[in-house]
Amino acid sequence: MVVGVPKETFPGERRVALVPAVVPLLAKAGLEVLIEAGAGKAAGFPDAAYEERGARIAPGRAGLFARAEAILQVRALGANPEAGERDLELLRPGQAVVGFCEPLGTPEAARALAGRGVTVFALELLPRIARAQSMDALTSMATVAGYKAVLLAAGALPRMFPMLMTAAGTVAPARVFVVGAGVAGLQAIATARRLGAVVQAYDVRPAVKEQVESLGARFVELPLEAGEVEDTGGYARALGEEFYRRQRETMARVVAESDVVITTAVTPGEKAPVLITREMVARMAPGSVIVDLAAERGGNCELTRPDETVVAQGVTVLGPANLPSTVPYHASQMYARNLSAFLLHLVKNGALRLDLGDEITRETLLARESEVVHPRVRERLGLPPLPAAQGGNG
Ligand code: NAI
Repeated sequence: MVVGVPKETFPGERRVALVPAVVPLLAKAGLEVLIEAGAGKAAGFPDAAYEERGARIAPGRAGLFARAEAILQVRALGANPEAGERDLELLRPGQAVVGFCEPLGTPEAARALAGRGVTVFALELLPRIARAQSMDALTSMATVAGYKAVLLAAGALPRMFPMLMTAAGTVAPARVFVVGAGVAGLQAIATARRLGAVVQAYDVRPAVKEQVESLGARFVELPLEAGEVEDTGGYARALGEEFYRRQRETMARVVAESDVVITTAVTPGEKAPVLITREMVARMAPGSVIVDLAAERGGNCELTRPDETVVAQGVTVLGPANLPSTVPYHASQMYARNLSAFLLHLVKNGALRLDLGDEITRETLLARESEVVHPRVRERLGLPPLPAAQGGNG
């Protein structure tokens, strides 16, 4: 089977779906890798590096789509709304598409892809189970984002992160508060600790307290009763506006005392809850920095604007929407390894074999045989459930 990697077309996107190092791995499983010329350049992988590992280079996008049986992308349509539309006419029935597609945020894209008769796998839908860990691209990207968020904060802060005892006196360490200690949050905690900051963190899932503490941060206990906070997939549930109101109230003091606040609080498929209001920002010291990783989902801070820097009463609010793309080499390497593990899971004897009895395959399958088949996405589109025999994966 020929797998094709087109150049990413989302504005500013520098990642690439496969890196040269995974090409031999795929070849061993009977997959031939075709790369659009220049696809890896922005991430630091020139065409020659792919060729050295046995991939072939397709000079044009149309030729790549015509030859490949599976198209591997970082941002497929849905995660690449405008430019992604242009690829629709290049797709043909029976072809497979694998990548991020924002299936819950932009379900209409799933419908458009289904309309082309392609089989689509959305990596966002990968279940968070032990067996799928090596394929978990969202986790990889959140790891990169958590790391980079701290560097951005350090760059914008008019203070240093570590405590220094010098002949010119003692420099107090920066106080960092991380809201949401999932993948991105934990990596932000670890990075801020490595830079020497004093770190506190809060999450609605009390189970993460131990992980926060093992990274050398303090877990902030808020007097809140959240009830059932975790769904069966290990993700947080949406908790409702009344809960968020009380969270804002009880968190305001910690926010006011912090030099840096990094927010990552989300529940899958939902808009991010507003946890830091304009008033809370006004109580922070001038020069403080907020990095809102939930910017793309509306933001955890009321003042956040995606991909913009907002300065309010001396506080800088950053809402970077695509941090993994700013670390394209390692983000692509991690993504490529996840994607390869996923592909190898689907491939038997050099061809795609879909076993819908398998949870990983079933949960990630978004569209097939001209139908959107994922139950949650169908629901968002107002479509009735599919009977299991038709590929319904509920
Ligand atoms: P995750 O699901 O691992 O972590 C989110 C955490 O937030 C969970 O631990 C959850 O319990 C917690 N949470 C939910 N509601 C909360 C609340 N009200 N208060 C405190 N904690 C709460 O998600 P992950 O992978 O760490 O991603 C976090 C965010 O970062 C997402 O919005 C994701 O889209 C975003 N992200 C942003 C990137 C960027 O470049 N801006 C890149 C990658 C991820």
